[in-house]
Amino acid sequence: MPASDLSESPVNRQSPADGMAGELDRIRLAYAKRTNGSPYSLFEPAQMLAVQERERKLLRLLARFGSSIPLEEARILDVGCGTGFWIREFLRWGAQPKNICGVDLLPERIAQARTLCPSATTLLCQSATEIGRMDGAFDLILQSTVFTSILDPQMKQQIASEMLRLLSPAGLILWYDFHVGNPANREVRGVPRKEIARLFPKCEIHLERVTLAPPIGRRVARISHSLYATLTAVGLLNTHYMGIIKRV
Ligand SMILES: C[S@@+](CC[C@H](N)C(=O)[O-])C[C@H]1O[C@@H](n2cnc3c(N)ncnc32)[C@H](O)[C@@H]1O
Repeated sequence: MPASDLSESPVNRQSPADGMAGELDRIRLAYAKRTNGSPYSLFEPAQMLAVQERERKLLRLLARFGSSIPLEEARILDVGCGTGFWIREFLRWGAQPKNICGVDLLPERIAQARTLCPSATTLLCQSATEIGRMDGAFDLILQSTVFTSILDPQMKQQIASEMLRLLSPAGLILWYDFHVGNPANREVRGVPRKEIARLFPKCEIHLERVTLAPPIGRRVARISHSLYATLTAVGLLNTHYMGIIKRV
C-alpha cells in the first residue's frame, strides 16, 4: 500500500458515539499519571536483557511462521505504537518506512514517534477501535502491551476484531503482553491465554512465555546475566506472552 493511502485517515479520530469515550479518558488519565522512570532505559540491565530476548524470540517466530512475508515488502500496522519503539525495530530488520503505519491514542506519544521515525512512516493519533483502511490492508499487525492497558472487555474485543479485519489472508498478528495481573498497577490487567483465544476466534494461536517478572528480573540482572537467561529459559517466572495469531 503506498504511503499516500496510509496517510488519508483523519487525525485524532475517536468516536464518542462508540460508547467507549469513558474508557478512552481513563486510559489517557492513567498514562498522564505515569512518570518516566528509569526501568525502561536500556542502561537498566533487566530492561536490556528483556529487549534482547524479545528481539530474538520475535525474529525466530517471524522466521518460523512468516517466511512467506518478506519484511522488505510487508505492510505493517503497530496498534498502540506509543513512541514507535517497535516501528524502529522493524525498520532495523528490513521493513520499509512507507509500508509502516502506527496508531496511538496519545498525541504526545505520536508526536515523539514522529521525531524518532522516518517521515515516510504513517503515524496516526486515534483510537485503535476504528482504524479505517481497507479490509486485509496489512500483512503484519503488532500489539505490544496495549490490551493490558485497556480494562473494558468490549473495547478489547473491538480492537481485536479491527485487527482481524485489517489482516491480509496470509497475514500474522504479533502479540506481546503480560498474562498476569500487576498488583502495583490497577490501571492494567493481564490478558490470559483463554481471553486471547476469545478475542481472536477461528485463529491458530501460538504463544510462548517470555520476560522474567520485572521485579525479580531487575534484581537478578544486576547479579548475573546468565542466571537471568536461565530463569527466563525455564519460563516459570515469566510474566508475558509473545506469540503469533493467524487465521485457520
Ligand atoms: C504500554 S504502552 C506500549 C507502547 C508500545 N506498543 C510499546 O510496546 O512500546 C501502551 C500504548 O497503548 C496505547 N493505547 C491504549 N489504548 C489505546 C486505544 N484504544 N487506541 C490506541 N492506542 C491505545 C497507549 O496510548 C500507549 O501508548
